[in-house]
Amino acid sequence: MTQRTTLITGATQGMGRALALDLAARGGTVLLHGRDRTRLEAVAAEARAAGPATTVRTYLADLSDLDQVHAMADRVRAAEPYLDGLINNAVAGGGEEPLKRELSRQGHELRFAVNHLAPYALTRDLLPLLTASAPARVVNVASIGQEAVDFDDVMLERDYEGLRAYCRSKLAMIMATFELAAELRGTGVTVNTLHPAHLMDTDGVRAYGLTPLTTTDEGVRPTVRLLLDPDLATTTGRYFDQFTDVRAHDQAYDPEARARLMELTHRLVA
Ligand SMILES: NC(=O)c1ccc[n+]([C@@H]2O[C@H](COP(=O)([O-])OP(=O)(O)OC[C@H]3O[C@@H](n4cnc5c(N)ncnc54)[C@H](OP(=O)(O)O)[C@@H]3O)[C@@H](O)[C@H]2O)c1
Repeated sequence: MTQRTTLITGATQGMGRALALDLAARGGTVLLHGRDRTRLEAVAAEARAAGPATTVRTYLADLSDLDQVHAMADRVRAAEPYLDGLINNAVAGGGEEPLKRELSRQGHELRFAVNHLAPYALTRDLLPLLTASAPARVVNVASIGQEAVDFDDVMLERDYEGLRAYCRSKLAMIMATFELAAELRGTGVTVNTLHPAHLMDTDGVRAYGLTPLTTTDEGVRPTVRLLLDPDLATTTGRYFDQFTDVRAHDQAYDPEARARLMELTHRLVA
């Protein structure tokens, strides 16, 4: 484990924080991302306490601004000699005001931007470093909450609702995972995605008015498995419900939908 360097997005609370502490306790280098400097330094201090021998560095970026995503990727590539793990965990959830449609800095629907465009842009920008560090693994934290992307209204200008926007953005993330995994076959970089656990005890769950049913550790275990399990060294382009390789929403297997999504995605993140 000592050679590993893993970047975790959205490490300042919820499952991201729990992932940070879990990986910090295992050694190596842990790179923590957050959008708020105070929260980020607080979790970095916790991570250093959890793994005194672990190197912990922090990266600040608001993922609702693609310029900040690209700038963060540039900083990671400039500062890190090695990166063999990327966990795209950060999320804009259903929201405290689910009927309030919000936009990213670039004017895209916020859930689509933070949950799909930002992790895709970050991963793509970091591919040179990941490939040079191969074998490397990308883990995209999605959800069992999935709804088909409506290509006539990708930005949900009609009938907006936060959980619907979240579910569409998570299916977009799953479709992009499958596409990227296929593109990266043979490079030593794997890309998988998962539903970590049902209704973990996080602010995101409570903010939407849902009652937590599980702990963040329930989600950490299957997520860390995708990052570290030697048995999954060559597994790529799969969607897991916790520990089980399962089928995602039907749209994820529709080649035309995937092609449309990727054409749009490449245009928007460029
Ligand atoms: N909780 C569940 O039951 C559940 C179920 C299925 C899937 N998941 C998935 O598991 C992952 C973790 O969920 P969670 O419940 O732990 O989330 P959470 O508690 O809401 O935490 C979300 C994290 O993302 C960060 N974030 C949000 N918007 C951001 C932005 N614009 N720029 C940068 N960072 C931003 C937050 O930063 P701040 O601290 O600054 O807000 C925080 O660190 C997500 O991908 C989620 O979809 C969760």
